[in-house]
Amino acid sequence: MKQFILGVAISCVATTAVAQTYNTLWIPDTLRGTTFNLTVKDTMKQLRSGNQTITGGINNSFWGPTLFFNKGDTVHLNVKNKLNDSTTIHWHGMHLPAVMDGGPHQVIPPGTTWSPYWKVTNNAGTYWYHPHLHEMTLEHVSKGIGGFIIVRDPAEAALTLPRKYGVDDIPLVLTSRRYDNSNQFIVQNTAYGDYLLTNGTHSAQVSLPKQYVRLRILNAEIERGYNLGFSDNRTFYIIANDGGLLSAPVAVTRVKLMVGERVEILVNLSNDNVGTSVDLKAYNSNQTFGFPGGEAGTTGQFGSLLNNIDFTVLHINVAAQTASPVTALPSTLVSNTYWTNNDVTNSRTLTITGGTPGQPNNPFVFDNTPFVLSTINKTVTLNQVEKWTVKNSNIFGHTFHIHDVEFKIIERNGSAANVGAYEQGWKDVMFVPVNESVSFIAKFDDYADPLHPFMYHCHFSNHEDDGMMGQFVVTSLTSLPTNASEMKYTLYPNPTSGRLFVQAPVNTTVYYATVCNSAGKAVMMLPQPELNKGIDVSALAPGEYFIVFIDFATKTKTAVKFIRQ
Ligand code: C2O
Ligand code: CU
Ligand code: CU
Repeated sequence: MKQFILGVAISCVATTAVAQTYNTLWIPDTLRGTTFNLTVKDTMKQLRSGNQTITGGINNSFWGPTLFFNKGDTVHLNVKNKLNDSTTIHWHGMHLPAVMDGGPHQVIPPGTTWSPYWKVTNNAGTYWYHPHLHEMTLEHVSKGIGGFIIVRDPAEAALTLPRKYGVDDIPLVLTSRRYDNSNQFIVQNTAYGDYLLTNGTHSAQVSLPKQYVRLRILNAEIERGYNLGFSDNRTFYIIANDGGLLSAPVAVTRVKLMVGERVEILVNLSNDNVGTSVDLKAYNSNQTFGFPGGEAGTTGQFGSLLNNIDFTVLHINVAAQTASPVTALPSTLVSNTYWTNNDVTNSRTLTITGGTPGQPNNPFVFDNTPFVLSTINKTVTLNQVEKWTVKNSNIFGHTFHIHDVEFKIIERNGSAANVGAYEQGWKDVMFVPVNESVSFIAKFDDYADPLHPFMYHCHFSNHEDDGMMGQFVVTSLTSLPTNASEMKYTLYPNPTSGRLFVQAPVNTTVYYATVCNSAGKAVMMLPQPELNKGIDVSALAPGEYFIVFIDFATKTKTAVKFIRQ
């Protein structure tokens, strides 16, 4: 089988060496400010020659805009679902209230706008957003629905780093797809695509200036891992993990990037001549078993034309230097204080089970317990510093992700020395290879909510959909307000401003407000609405509506009618 793969690789080289053609790398457009309008939709894109491919996108025909957040700002997101299907949008890596998190419980029906908001407290870094509907994540993510979030903060701004988006600061989202004969994606029973898409571009090339360049790389695959490096084996520098900048750059010639992970790297092009090129490549051949995408074979559920080979991720053409280029590597970055074993107030262990070979109905799960939407698997007390150990003496590697927090990987197989230099920063995803147990420490602060849970799961969307997921609530010991006042809400529609003002009962905090049309269909979903600003109903067609309010303390639902004139 290996010889067969080699044969394919050689024939590719033979046919393409004559004239390799590249397509210009698509750079996602950007949205800035504090209010972000996102429309999730079914669409089509000319991804390669032949038919267009049915895709999904956000304001785009594949993938979505890059959202720029400033740490400290309160951001408002309006997510309109124009799919013919319910979905959710999760803000991967963001620290926020569970009810704003966009996990499997925050379902947005078709035609509905969901409006979460939160204060950005994450460090400057590269985050992302993507669908998370239970059992539908693989399908919705595979369509191409997702996008980058770039957080800026003063600590990052104080450093001399490349940050001209699309010029010397380039987002790269890596994923691959398999196509049928009419150019449509094959999603089911396909862990690995056959053709790489770099920012939705096949055989992508980009011109980058002759200076230090920053690449923000996200693995948005179903399962495939990437062992990244450059075609001339040059040294490059890791400056950030999932949750922001490291204390200092880490020099490497290869870095592994598993599903859900982000890494920011600096690569020095100052010594390259204008007009020359260098390739960013995946050196995925000859990985140890359990590296996702190392499997032999080119077809079937676990085979792929890209498996167990080295392949180009991005062809880089060196161009002239820009004005005020970054030409030196900072020696230090930010000062991070990480959690240690001494800080831990509670410990937990999760064991990867299931996945017995030859038993297709025995998917991978945690602790022999498949995910059930109505079961809360863990309860974390607010402000605890917890150590979680994920044990994998099972049959394959997985990427573990947890919502709500950024964590510090503290040990691999019980030893801090086994934690790679490239993964020393804040993380929200960690690779758990077969025959390893990996421990992290995180603090679960700020947001308690006994009703809405956060998720932890394998970030392979096929595994997640099959139940390799669990959920936890963060609870606060401080008692909730108990006085259930008379549930009387008064509405004051203001036709001129298009806003609806709400007088809530005394001592009531509204946990959720849902605006429904007269047929009872949800048209707006407003977690913890800021009632002092009123509710913007200007986009609603004239007619009769209801708002269903859920009170925080009692979870009592109250429906109130109003007329949109
Ligand atoms: Cu990126 Cu729970 O997901
Ligand atoms: Cu997440
Ligand atoms: Cu998995």
